[in-house]
Amino acid sequence: MTANRPTAHRTTLTQHLIEQQREHNNIPSDLRLLIETVSHACKLISYHVSRGALGEVLGSAGNENIQGEVQQKLDILSNNILLEANEWGGHLAAMASEEMASIHQIPALFPRGKYLLLFDPLDGSSNIDVNMSIGTIFSILRCLDDKNPTEKSFLQKGSRQVVAGYAVYGPQTMLVLTTGYGVNCFTLDRDLGSWVLTHRALRILVDSCEYAINAANQRYWYEPVQRYVNELIEGVDGPRKMNFNMRWVAAMVSDVNRILHRGGGIFMYPADKRTPSKPGKLRLMYEANPMAFIIEQAGGHATNGKERILDIQPKSLHERVAVFLGSKNEVDRVTQYHLKS
Ligand code: AHG
Ligand code: MN
Ligand code: MN
Repeated sequence: MTANRPTAHRTTLTQHLIEQQREHNNIPSDLRLLIETVSHACKLISYHVSRGALGEVLGSAGNENIQGEVQQKLDILSNNILLEANEWGGHLAAMASEEMASIHQIPALFPRGKYLLLFDPLDGSSNIDVNMSIGTIFSILRCLDDKNPTEKSFLQKGSRQVVAGYAVYGPQTMLVLTTGYGVNCFTLDRDLGSWVLTHRALRILVDSCEYAINAANQRYWYEPVQRYVNELIEGVDGPRKMNFNMRWVAAMVSDVNRILHRGGGIFMYPADKRTPSKPGKLRLMYEANPMAFIIEQAGGHATNGKERILDIQPKSLHERVAVFLGSKNEVDRVTQYHLKS
């Protein structure tokens, strides 16, 4: 695998977005300001994450979100930071978040814009208290009925996204972004407080020898996933005739970031028999869709085992989906195993 290399000269996020607009005419100034506002909120979240126990943001908040998951203090803080940062700018018609049961309307005292913002404010919550990588995932759609946005306004296929991105709060804070013309990565210069373009045009190779799945759930997997992963584990002794390596960060944002920066790999969170009524753990609209958009823009594939994630018509804001994404040939193989079963 060839690692994607950092570029040498310094371009800021603002410069990059303006250049993209000149080149492709796809980032009008209200969309640019919206991206900059979201990325500014990510800087604030990054600051709080970096404070850890010194900032009193660790630990549980003692309540549950709409998914029935225990909310961490940082889940709520990050959600509030994103809401406050984006409410007043005039670029949004409404927002939706993993941490809120229903959509968040823009308060009447602020102007309404023409975009919808969805986010997972803090991805990888179980990593917060142990100083491991976590992140924020976001997706921007156009609001097609801007007069009175409802939940239905958000239920657009992932292929309609105009922007998708994530910030990863690890040893470095990074912002990875697509506006439909490839994937670029910015590293936060903490001294200057600015996002610097450090990795241009990230690409994922079609083949890979690294996979990510929570193997503790193996006994619950359906047959196609059992077959695919067993063949990886058999390595040179099995039908694949090569060895594979396994990694699992337990934060999708960080697993996807590894795939993009290594230039290959596959990430899987399949549906399983633990909860047959739920098609997987991850959420379509603010986890799978933005990641699928980014991965496809880097040359990879993303499916739910049967169809392209970006082609799924969402039925509800918090719906779940099985996820297989990364290097094209690996995603296609596990998808074929599902389609043949
Ligand atoms: P969140 O913290 O937003 O609920 O998301 C966590 C997700 C995802 O980021 C990660 O890949 C997965 O849950 C980890 O699941 P396991 O607990 O099964 O490892
Ligand atoms: Mn998440
Ligand atoms: Mn989350």
